[in-house]
Amino acid sequence: MSAPAKFSPGPGRLAGRVAWISGATSGIGAAAAELFVQEGARVALVGRRLGLGRKIAARLNRRVPGAARALACDVSSEAAVARSLKATVQAFGRLDILVNNAGRVEIGELHQYSEAQWDRLMAVNVKSMFFAFKHAFPRLRAARRGYVVNVGSISSFVGQARTPVYTTTKHAILGLTRSIALDYAAHGIRCNCVCPGITETPMLWEHLNVRPDPRAALAERLRRVPMGVSLSPLDVAKAILYFSCEDSAGVTGTSLTIDGGYLAAAEWAGDGPTAFQASPHP
Ligand SMILES: NC(=O)c1ccc[n+]([C@@H]2O[C@H](COP(=O)([O-])OP(=O)(O)OC[C@H]3O[C@@H](n4cnc5c(N)ncnc54)[C@H](O)[C@@H]3O)[C@@H](O)[C@H]2O)c1
Repeated sequence: MSAPAKFSPGPGRLAGRVAWISGATSGIGAAAAELFVQEGARVALVGRRLGLGRKIAARLNRRVPGAARALACDVSSEAAVARSLKATVQAFGRLDILVNNAGRVEIGELHQYSEAQWDRLMAVNVKSMFFAFKHAFPRLRAARRGYVVNVGSISSFVGQARTPVYTTTKHAILGLTRSIALDYAAHGIRCNCVCPGITETPMLWEHLNVRPDPRAALAERLRRVPMGVSLSPLDVAKAILYFSCEDSAGVTGTSLTIDGGYLAAAEWAGDGPTAFQASPHP
């Protein structure tokens, strides 16, 4: 009997690769940038808050000189997205991975939205992905293997109260992901979607802080989660990494939910603390 094949991660799953990550100045995007650098990539941290991006880039560059560059970009502007992609290629010489992570949530009922609010959320959460893909495509094709990861949500699959436009955008992202996967496989490009559940980022707290007791509101939401815990940005970043390298060879046009079991349950009533709550890091 032959010995089982040894797992050998090599010098890094992303050695030699270049990634453009939107919304990389906080939360999931910042965690993905850090993980990507650890795995050998060079990354463009793309976001509106240049000062914050520069701070994160400086930290990453202290660890791996030349690994990160912060770029100012409002992803709802086609010209700004195109400029940031051009600057990425100028800085690093190539582009292999596009992570469409920037997004925002707005709370309200549909009849309360103005047309401008609807258009704005659609532009930031979905149209931005069209802009990024359109302008990255020639480079992804030139790389011979291109990876596109779109960040959806559990709201890509189910509705959540008082977030009608956000839910619409996150459902649309699944359709866009599948379409890109079909039309661009011929060019060596794979496209997949990561769908986070309740993740401890500034976005989550923005959402919770409007409640009278934010901690209690979080605990209440976690009662719907079989694992009973919120996710860390790194939990989600690991799924983004999976779709951005050959660990997911053969996978395209699909999605991965990282949600502590949230979507597995039609109904759920937890029975006391879970092992994940008792010891988050065994
Ligand atoms: N945190 C959660 O519980 C959760 C759950 C499901 C999905 N998500 C998704 O994860 C993604 C990342 O969010 P996060 O949780 O890390 O929150 P976050 O607020 O930390 O990150 C969102 C990032 O997008 C950036 N951004 C927003 N509008 C932008 C614009 N117009 N141009 C450029 N950048 C812009 C923000 O500045 C920020 O850096 C989002 O797409 C979000 O919808 C988050």
